[in-house]
Amino acid sequence: MKAIVAERLTKIYSGEKKALDNASFELSQGEVFGFLGPNGAGKTTAVKLLNGMISPSEGSCHVFGIDPSSSPEKVHAISGVVTEHAQMYGNLTGQENLVFYGTLFGIPKEESLKRALALLERLDLTVAKDKKLTTYSTGMRQRLSLARAMIHTPKILFLDEPTSGLDPESAQSVNNMIKELASDKGTTVFLCTHQLRYAQEVCSSYGLIDDGTLLAVGSLDALRCRIFSGLKVHIKSNRFPEGISFRKTEGQWAEINVQTEDEIPPIVKRIVDAGGNVYEVMANRLSLEEIYFSLIEKRKEQKEVR
Ligand SMILES: Nc1ncnc2c1ncn2[C@@H]1O[C@H](COP(=O)(O)OP(=O)(O)OP(=O)(O)O)[C@@H](O)[C@H]1O
Ligand SMILES: [Mg+2]
Repeated sequence: MKAIVAERLTKIYSGEKKALDNASFELSQGEVFGFLGPNGAGKTTAVKLLNGMISPSEGSCHVFGIDPSSSPEKVHAISGVVTEHAQMYGNLTGQENLVFYGTLFGIPKEESLKRALALLERLDLTVAKDKKLTTYSTGMRQRLSLARAMIHTPKILFLDEPTSGLDPESAQSVNNMIKELASDKGTTVFLCTHQLRYAQEVCSSYGLIDDGTLLAVGSLDALRCRIFSGLKVHIKSNRFPEGISFRKTEGQWAEINVQTEDEIPPIVKRIVDAGGNVYEVMANRLSLEEIYFSLIEKRKEQKEVR
């Protein structure tokens, strides 16, 4: 069974423009899906629809076969959600908050405590476990919210910007945890984020959204194919021969696109044969960040033409 199936999912908030427009996508179990897009693109709207916090205006969605708009409680039982405004209690300690939510999910108190302590340890909050939530910093609160979302070992996690307020070390540790959850426990993760470099490290597939419209869905390689699937080669040399289409960039650097790495040695040889010295050669495929900007840019151009 698919973890998520969205079919022509559409949301129009009280007569306004479409916040989500005809979005169709599927997620398999164990996938870490990066949902990417600029501010106001419709990411949080999608998370809310998939959790039954709001209902679709048109189309439908299912989470492990459950329709969240008709059975939100069934979706809540198998999912964990982290949003900016996670409901927790300021006058309870970190540990008490987790145990409270564990028992709310029907987990016996002793087991809830065991899980809470393990999660506090995993998220580096053990020293703060007996402090009241009101004394937590933004990043600590965010990590506790993540622990809260995982107390009932959900099959699927919806994470809306889970690392936005975290320092680089904590963000890295949260990302590692996301990767482990997917690979060891088969947890499916729906991750909304602006942090494209982190996304590229943790996600197995992506959805790119702008202005409510899903621009592309697929693995990094599939997205690359939409733009350029080959390699960008950067070469530093004091001389670039005529007849090869180098693009001069900065100083002694130039770049050239190739389809496969077999094309690189002959290019270097041509430079050397022409009397040039080659100081550095770097080859890389398009990053998620480059793909993102290229697709968003294309979309802008299309909108301007219309
Ligand atoms: N309750 C609401 N009523 C009316 N319009 C809304 C409501 N919530 C969101 N919107 C609008 O829907 C669109 C999508 O918003 P959404 O919060 O889903 O974007 P987002 O991709 O999560 O953005 P961000 O990156 O800023 O979190 C925006 O134009 C927003 O103004
Ligand atoms: Mg949002």
